[in-house]
Amino acid sequence: MTADADIIAGLRDAGLSGEGDIVLEPLTGGVSCDVWKVETPTGPIVVKRPLEQLRVAADWHAPVERGQSEVRWLRRARGVDPAIAPEVLAELPGYGFAMRFLPGCPVWKDELTAGRVDADFAAGVGRGIAAVHAATADSAADRDAFPTDAMFRALRVDPFLLHVAQKDTELAPVLTALADDLSARKIALVHGDVSPKNILVSTGGPVFLDAECAVYGDPAFDLAFCTTHLLLKAVWLEDARLGEAASAMVAAYRAGIEWEDADDLLLRAGKLTAALLIARVEGKSPAPYLTDPGHKRIVRDQARALILAPTPIDALVANWKRNLA
Ligand SMILES: Nc1ncnc2c1ncn2[C@@H]1O[C@H](COP(=O)(O)OP(=O)(O)OP(=O)(O)O)[C@@H](O)[C@H]1O
Ligand SMILES: [Mg+2]
Repeated sequence: MTADADIIAGLRDAGLSGEGDIVLEPLTGGVSCDVWKVETPTGPIVVKRPLEQLRVAADWHAPVERGQSEVRWLRRARGVDPAIAPEVLAELPGYGFAMRFLPGCPVWKDELTAGRVDADFAAGVGRGIAAVHAATADSAADRDAFPTDAMFRALRVDPFLLHVAQKDTELAPVLTALADDLSARKIALVHGDVSPKNILVSTGGPVFLDAECAVYGDPAFDLAFCTTHLLLKAVWLEDARLGEAASAMVAAYRAGIEWEDADDLLLRAGKLTAALLIARVEGKSPAPYLTDPGHKRIVRDQARALILAPTPIDALVANWKRNLA
């Protein structure tokens, strides 16, 4: 039985198909998964199944069980606010799953790239992630439901923080300490991949996808991860509005911090952002659009300075320079 036949049988077993043939139409994206759109008698759905070998330049394997983490995160987030994640309809063979397709919702990255930068929407992203963090902070049940530290280490800590540490002796002590701190903190449920390419723009605000890296860990990571993307895009597109969007996101997130001292979190997020910024120019998963050597230098120079002299994330964003002028 081919993999597709497996998926089709799973959809039939879950009662998600009619009598006729099931047509799997590939969706764009998909570095780490096969993602298809499927028409069903009750409307379109998305079927997603993790790949064992990620489609990135460097050899990069990841356990397929991460599909299960994503399902758990999506369900938990919908429990916090049903508007912020798609509904999971069924779990399928090979850690695949089916979810409801959200029609007419562009990917936020495409909106930003097209010059449609909406600071209110960015604030909604900050509110959405803070809501999940607040609802899951200090929760033994959530901690037990996400025993995914090894996965988070393999997909986030090693490639983003420790890969650069291996190559750069000056930064190594700071990055290694940061990696240890990140791995040790067990505060709230972290999505792990809050990137504009994993956020749909719906009329009701942001919808978060792609939670394969979910872990019970440091919520500062999610804020830092998304901020990194916005700051890289500010350099790439030389657009000040992306920095303003990042500021709006951070401010909205800050207003939602009710589980710990906000200043502590913002400083951790500032350190992580600096580390993630350098990882996106020198790490294992470089930002694909940041190819211009001048752009890379702007990011690298600022990131190095910020790693060696940490700044809270709100100040980091406010001072971020988009060009050499
Ligand atoms: N529920 C949904 N409704 C509408 N579109 C969706 C939905 N789920 C996924 N998509 C589309 O499919 C794309 C890929 O989905 P997703 O990010 O979950 O997969 P992925 O393989 O992990 O992608 P990548 O590795 O590129 O981030 C999304 O960017 C989006 O365009
Ligand atoms: Mg994705």
